[in-house]
Amino acid sequence: MKRITSLILAVLMLLSLTACTDSSRGGATYSYDEEAPALHEAYDQWFKIGCAINSWNLDDLDSPEYKTLAKHFNAFVFENESKQDAIQPSEGNFRWDAMDKMVAFCEENGATLRGHTLLWHSQCPDWFFTDNGQDASAELVIERLRNHVTTVVTRYKGKVDSWDVVNEVIGDGGGLRDSNWLRLVGDYDGDGDKYDFIEQAFLAAREADPDARLMINDYSIEASESKAVSMYLAVKKMLEDGIPIDGIGFQSHIGINTNIDDMRRCFEILGKLREIKPDLIFEVTELDMGVYNWGDNNETEYTKEIEEQQSAKYRELFEFYIEQAELGYLDSVVFWGLSDNHSWLNKSEQKNYPMLFGRDWVLKDCYWEVLEVAEEHKK
Ligand code: G3I
Repeated sequence: MKRITSLILAVLMLLSLTACTDSSRGGATYSYDEEAPALHEAYDQWFKIGCAINSWNLDDLDSPEYKTLAKHFNAFVFENESKQDAIQPSEGNFRWDAMDKMVAFCEENGATLRGHTLLWHSQCPDWFFTDNGQDASAELVIERLRNHVTTVVTRYKGKVDSWDVVNEVIGDGGGLRDSNWLRLVGDYDGDGDKYDFIEQAFLAAREADPDARLMINDYSIEASESKAVSMYLAVKKMLEDGIPIDGIGFQSHIGINTNIDDMRRCFEILGKLREIKPDLIFEVTELDMGVYNWGDNNETEYTKEIEEQQSAKYRELFEFYIEQAELGYLDSVVFWGLSDNHSWLNKSEQKNYPMLFGRDWVLKDCYWEVLEVAEEHKK
């Protein structure tokens, strides 16, 4: 009996030791712990590290979210509150409260601010596209678009560092996405292409703030070679036509099975745009790493095996980002959320685990892995 009790005790001690090593790998347990190394400091020789937040995350200075975001990140973007429906829900009715609060926070904290987004097919109110119950004319749509861009960018001139001027305009099957913008504006200038709504947005943004970085942002251009090629062709034509595009935003909603060699290939394809614009820059704008295959709603468990796979993929990913930064392409990596609890990937029937910080703010294994990568590459 004694031997069985000691055996059980020994197993229990071993289990508690393993748990202890997992959560305190570097002497800290939670993302807001003072001893937890700040992510952005670990990476400051390569790129900024940012995250998407909501304005209410800035309300309580003692909350875990505030302490986490202020400690680990030096670039910020709103998840929803600078989109068209939030900023101008009805024509001429601009709402500035959230963005003003964000600007003040970034100024106080010396952080970079991204503006997301001046044009999207989603979260864009219908009034942009209608006139007395009918489709609005191309002239009217352009006028409203230019007015939105000019008003917003002028207000935040010198305060927003990088604008996602347009978001997700490339279609999944090649060419431009079918949207109200494309349908109603079409080939307005008669030059044979239908980039006109994109061009108008970039031109208006440049006029309003000559120094802001103007980005074209999209998903899967880091994962799908054909989508990267579509983006390449669109940006090439617009750059040749003198449209002021400063950089490409790779959203990077990726998974634990994402192939980093495919990603490298996509970056190389878009890197060729430097033959036209030598200082073209890349930003990773919406990084998260879902742990289930897209569309698979049955898996629900974050197993040890998945955790290890995720940590290994985060390692490979940040090694790749360092390589791209050292090549002079990448200067910003922004996560789309703050912790596993703050991610659009969570569904009512399925929790996801895409971030470096857990639901209870615990420092996940992938956080330590990402820090280790920085340590190993420091010069
Ligand atoms: O604001 C309304 C609220 O009034 C209403 O009561 C509630 C009921 O569902 O909905 C609220 O709106 C939600 C909004 O987020 C704000 O919370 C929408 O339903 C919801 O669809 C919306 O989701 C956002 C999504 O964009 C919209 O397509 C996600 O939070 C946001 O993470 C996501 O972000 C996008 C990027 O902008 C572009 N790239 C892809 C990325 C992920 O989809």
